[in-house]
Amino acid sequence: MPESRRVDVSPRRLTPGPVPPRASFRPVDAAATPLAEARGVSRTFTVGGQEVTALRETTLRVRPGDRIALLGPSGSGKSTLLHLLGGLDTPTTGTVSWPTLGEAGSLRPGKVAFVFQAQSLMPPLTALENVALPLLLVGETPEAATREARRALDTLELLALADQLPEELSGGQAQRVAVARALVTRPRLVLADEPTGQLDSVTAAHLMDVLLSALEPGAALVMATHDEAVARRLDTLWRMEGGRLLSRATKEGTS
Ligand SMILES: Nc1ncnc2c1ncn2[C@@H]1O[C@H](COP(=O)(O)OP(=O)(O)O)[C@@H](O)[C@H]1O
Ligand SMILES: [Mg+2]
Repeated sequence: MPESRRVDVSPRRLTPGPVPPRASFRPVDAAATPLAEARGVSRTFTVGGQEVTALRETTLRVRPGDRIALLGPSGSGKSTLLHLLGGLDTPTTGTVSWPTLGEAGSLRPGKVAFVFQAQSLMPPLTALENVALPLLLVGETPEAATREARRALDTLELLALADQLPEELSGGQAQRVAVARALVTRPRLVLADEPTGQLDSVTAAHLMDVLLSALEPGAALVMATHDEAVARRLDTLWRMEGGRLLSRATKEGTS
């Protein structure tokens, strides 16, 4: 069933924002097999005997090259949807599948990577060691992991900070290290949960610049945010409220 039949689409259009770097415009092949597909998913939590519905009958396909923003206020279900798309959680009803990536249990760092809102770096490890860690987990040699981690840090304009500990980094620098750690394995699907949530607008814009230019062309990005300016940097914007995807807008217009 097409997405448009499953959601309440209202005719909105994105207001023009700052022109993103060319690298963020990628032709998305609508016929390509999705990397992740949520079909009619709902997620209910039981808190103190009460049921809380975090996500309601949501359908979303993520295809190679997609750059999707989930824009909504706190509590609208953004994190819940990201966790389901990354296989960190399972839906109460509906299904999530990864037609080109495999089963939930096989979503290793080389396939799916997360960027969280804040303070996700390992405090005793340097920036370089934090970024090398996922490569060591997928079996790279220490030499190869260090080489690739340095490359990722360089891409994120962080090489000079390679030997710093997380506590010695600014908030923006720490988030760029977290992005480098997510991208170092060249994942096919990047899920970012309010990665700019604790940054000022200038630092947030810079994080978006380096993230969008460091992302592999065929990789997909789904980013939760409550910041309209951040959301406008991506190609597709889904508004969320009350656990539902409300309306979809793209750089080409509303659909
Ligand atoms: N693990 C959980 N246990 C109980 N309630 C939860 C849990 N995760 C999310 N919720 C609830 O589900 C709703 C949506 O949460 P969330 O997906 O975190 O929203 P957002 O990321 O948009 O702020 C909120 O009401 C939240 O309190
Ligand atoms: Mg959240």
